[in-house]
Amino acid sequence: MGKLVVAGGSPLKGRVRVSGAKNAALAILCASVMAEGEVLLENIPEITDIQVMIDIIRCLGARIRWQENNSLHIQMPGRVEEMPPYEMVKKLRASNLLMGPMLARYGRVELSLPGGCNIGIRPMDLHFKGLAALGAELRLEKGVVKARAERLNGSRIYLDFPSVGATENIMMAACLAKGQTVIENVAKEPEVVDLANFLNCLGARVRGAGTDIIKIEGVDSLRECLRYSVIPDRIEAGTYMVAAAATGGDVRLENVIPLHVEPLSAKLREANVEVFEEGDVLHVRAREPLRPVDIKTMPYPGFPTDLQSQMMALLSTVKGTSMIVENIFENRFRVADELKRMGAKIKVEGRLAVVEGVPRLFGAKVKATDLRAGAALVVAGLMAEGETEISNVYYIDRGYHRLEEKLSSLGARVWRS
Ligand code: EPZ
Repeated sequence: MGKLVVAGGSPLKGRVRVSGAKNAALAILCASVMAEGEVLLENIPEITDIQVMIDIIRCLGARIRWQENNSLHIQMPGRVEEMPPYEMVKKLRASNLLMGPMLARYGRVELSLPGGCNIGIRPMDLHFKGLAALGAELRLEKGVVKARAERLNGSRIYLDFPSVGATENIMMAACLAKGQTVIENVAKEPEVVDLANFLNCLGARVRGAGTDIIKIEGVDSLRECLRYSVIPDRIEAGTYMVAAAATGGDVRLENVIPLHVEPLSAKLREANVEVFEEGDVLHVRAREPLRPVDIKTMPYPGFPTDLQSQMMALLSTVKGTSMIVENIFENRFRVADELKRMGAKIKVEGRLAVVEGVPRLFGAKVKATDLRAGAALVVAGLMAEGETEISNVYYIDRGYHRLEEKLSSLGARVWRS
């Protein structure tokens, strides 16, 4: 299995361009299943999660072709014969976002339940509750969810938790339901808003994305969308911002929407990092000494859980005590054990991690346990004295487009072994 080696000690300096948002692109690819016409998507990151989703949708008979400048051309078939095979669905939890679109467009779907993963059990009860409220009949047979719906009908749905995936699945299904659907206590993440904008480009009538209530007037069919550019990836951007701060660097990030990373920018400024907005460029400059900060992960616009591990790495050498509370996933502190192998002092009690800053980290052999934990170990490796060898690098490749290339262009010494 591939390993990534990171030699520490070089402050990151220079400019880096942020790629398209993985979590927006995955949802928008699923929504494309509902389009009766052609779809052209731009700014799609070339990462393995996207490639797996493309392969899964191709199993439905879709014609999907990469074009220049990270664009994808998609044409769906009028009918679907095959359902996505278990071997592919199990690789990508986000394949669960096909449920709403396939029910809405084709009236049926059979998807093996995506298992839990390294960050939590990841139930789908809120997805099922919403789809059932729209009139879908769902049953579970040997780990496969089988759902049918002659025609979905609009409904009023309240989400017990503002789940990103449940919001997206229900919103997509409701676009082709009869009548109005009101979804309350929805997720407000930028990726949900991007999906809503894409659905409206297809001819859907979605209002209120980004607020607590989304209203959808169902239509009979969705047409083509010949050009839609996906938003920049705020989590990739945040990862480079943290790496710049952690290495005493000075980095300008291009193709960023500053509002989308504001929860992190505010936290970094609290830690004595300079963050300047220069249009769609974000300038991050570290100052000495950094200050310890407390973090509570929350649904957007709170601090994002997907940047929690990266901040834990940064805070591990900030003098003083930092408290991190992980409110979204029940098992997202596994990276602490790997950081402790590098000399970090972190005490984990349930949803709370207490980080005592140490003078420095030391390079070690460590393993990525999930995508963002892997990113955190890259940050730690950049900060550490000596070389860090990260195994299970395929986790990192799921969500970071050309990681070594981008880091090397900022002066980092990083390579595959
Ligand atoms: C999306 O996952 C993202 N993935 C995750 O990013 C991200 O961490 C998460 O949202 C939170 O922001 C994609 O968009 C593909 P949730 P999702 O449903 O939709 C509970 C990354 O690294 N819940 O908002 O699965 C759930 O257990 C990935 O890019 C239910 O209880 O997240 C969790 O505790 C990791 N029942 C909480 O809600 C449900 O039916 C948040 O989950 C659904 C969720």
